[in-house]
Amino acid sequence: MYLYPKWIRLWHLINAAMFLILIVTGLSMQYTDKENASYVVGFAKAVRLHNFAAIILILNYILFVTGNLLTNNGRYYRIGRKNFISNLKKQFVYYSIGMFKGEKHPFPVSEERKFNPLQKITYVLAMYVAFPLLIISGIGLLLPEITITTVFGISGLILTDILHITMGFCLTIFMIIHIYTCTLGSKPTSLFRGIITGYHVSDED
Ligand code: HEM
Repeated sequence: MYLYPKWIRLWHLINAAMFLILIVTGLSMQYTDKENASYVVGFAKAVRLHNFAAIILILNYILFVTGNLLTNNGRYYRIGRKNFISNLKKQFVYYSIGMFKGEKHPFPVSEERKFNPLQKITYVLAMYVAFPLLIISGIGLLLPEITITTVFGISGLILTDILHITMGFCLTIFMIIHIYTCTLGSKPTSLFRGIITGYHVSDED
């Protein structure tokens, strides 16, 4: 099944690469100090690389949103109300018990359903909640002159920073779980092949 059009593969490749750069440079900035000025990447270089990767990531995010608005791919992200919670439970039970007993996927991939319910909700939360908050707070830190100075007596910059670090942390955890769940296709490598070649191979193929 051809499920990953070229533009989504290009978006994903750039996104993953920029994300890894942002994690390494972000951690380098976080844990740097006057004595230990070079944690993985030196502070000044980390700032430059972080800003550069962030700008590419933002432009790339615009590609993701526009692509999903203009093509059919957007429909895979729509969450229906019908059986929403019970479907989430089914998928959760499969991931925690069923798959170890060799049971079949409760929501096999098809042209109509690219993501299982848990994948769908995490992709929506990551891409349409955490990502925009990460970007907005990042812009706030990049351009401190536009950031609110105080909120209830607390520095707006510190609050923006806390939001940015929290979203960065959540998305990093998302990425680790995401990579793990991507090994749960018909073979451990089949979903990775899909996002490179465009073709999804299911259990039945
Ligand atoms: C090295 C890091 C990464 C690897 C190896 C990886 C791997 C994959 C694989 C194999 C797929 C296809 C399986 C599927 O449809 O779920 C996929 C899809 C996806 N990934 Fe990743 N990923 C990485 C990083 C990220 C990051 C950082 C994000 C976002 C924060 C992300 C968001 C997504 C989304 C939204 C899809 C679905 C795209 C679509 O078909 O519409 N990935 N990824």
